Amino acid sequence: MKAMVYRRYGGPEVLEPAELPDPKTHVDSVLVRVRAAALNPADLALQAGALAEAVETYFPVVPGWDVAGVVERAGPAAGEFAPGDEVIGYLRGEVQRAHGGLAELVSADVRSLVRKPSTMSFAEAAGLPLAGLTAYQAVVHALDIQPGELLLVHGAAGGVGSLAVQIARVRGARVIGTASARDHDYLRSLGVEPVTYGPGATERIRHLPVDAVLDTAGNGALSATPTHPGVRVASIAEIGSPGVTAVFCRLDRVDFQAVADLAETGTLTVRVGETFPFDRAADAQRALSKRSRSGKIVVLGPGSS
Ligand SMILES: NC(=O)c1ccc[n+]([C@@H]2O[C@H](COP(=O)([O-])OP(=O)(O)OC[C@H]3O[C@@H](n4cnc5c(N)ncnc54)[C@H](OP(=O)(O)O)[C@@H]3O)[C@@H](O)[C@H]2O)c1
Repeated sequence: MKAMVYRRYGGPEVLEPAELPDPKTHVDSVLVRVRAAALNPADLALQAGALAEAVETYFPVVPGWDVAGVVERAGPAAGEFAPGDEVIGYLRGEVQRAHGGLAELVSADVRSLVRKPSTMSFAEAAGLPLAGLTAYQAVVHALDIQPGELLLVHGAAGGVGSLAVQIARVRGARVIGTASARDHDYLRSLGVEPVTYGPGATERIRHLPVDAVLDTAGNGALSATPTHPGVRVASIAEIGSPGVTAVFCRLDRVDFQAVADLAETGTLTVRVGETFPFDRAADAQRALSKRSRSGKIVVLGPGSS
């Protein structure tokens, strides 16, 4: 099968095309033909070797945790899926090896898959797993946002932030979101009150009577945060700050299904910023690292258009 691999740590320049054996499918696994793979900042960090001390890595690595595709073959205990089913998967493993989404085929444990929302294209649906799970776990579990509460989301127009604000709105919260001016209309379309981040943000934000704050931006965004007693603060990007609940995405099938269900009803949407053909996956990584455009960066599977 066709795949994109890296054989050593580095930036987009180390990503190269390769021909690999088709993945085997074990008892609990299904073989998925990849139609689209969404990129995340974590892909770039792993490829750069940022977690080399913590994560076992077996080169060559096929990167990519987020996929959308079609089941080609199902293992004997993969009962709920059958060939032809459209699925999305969150393929984070505890090791880095030849099993990621930048490939023609990927073998995935059924526990890492749910059915693709029929309301979404493959490219949109590929943007849902990691960002959706993180957003859901932050808004629902870490902050437990309640109807009528006021939530401030830093990085509200980003991959995770845009899903977090939608989930908070579904739960009946009023949401204020920091973002660049280019994303303010987008945020308004989601029912969010936008605030420009950067110089002056602290003065614009600090007095707000928020019940909770979610930081999806890092970059010191939390310094522009109300600090009155009782405010609940969580971050996905600045893990370890005092008084801040750290949220780290975990693969939880119930949460994953809840995210997919919200998307199925059209309540949750994914904004795709740019799609790249498979052979331009390295350019897709460059686009992600530059962040010159808003929305998810998606690489189409080989042969998909
Ligand atoms: N803990 C976890 O489990 C977990 C899971 C997923 C992601 N993450 C991390 O969370 C971060 C966001 O991920 P993502 O996929 O959502 O990235 P993304 O799509 O690039 O979104 C980041 C957003 O933050 C905005 N931003 C940057 N600096 C800001 C600031 N100072 N104040 C307010 N907004 C700011 C960006 O706006 P502009 O583009 O306009 O600058 C962009 O819209 C990354 O660091 C990622 O590694 C952690």
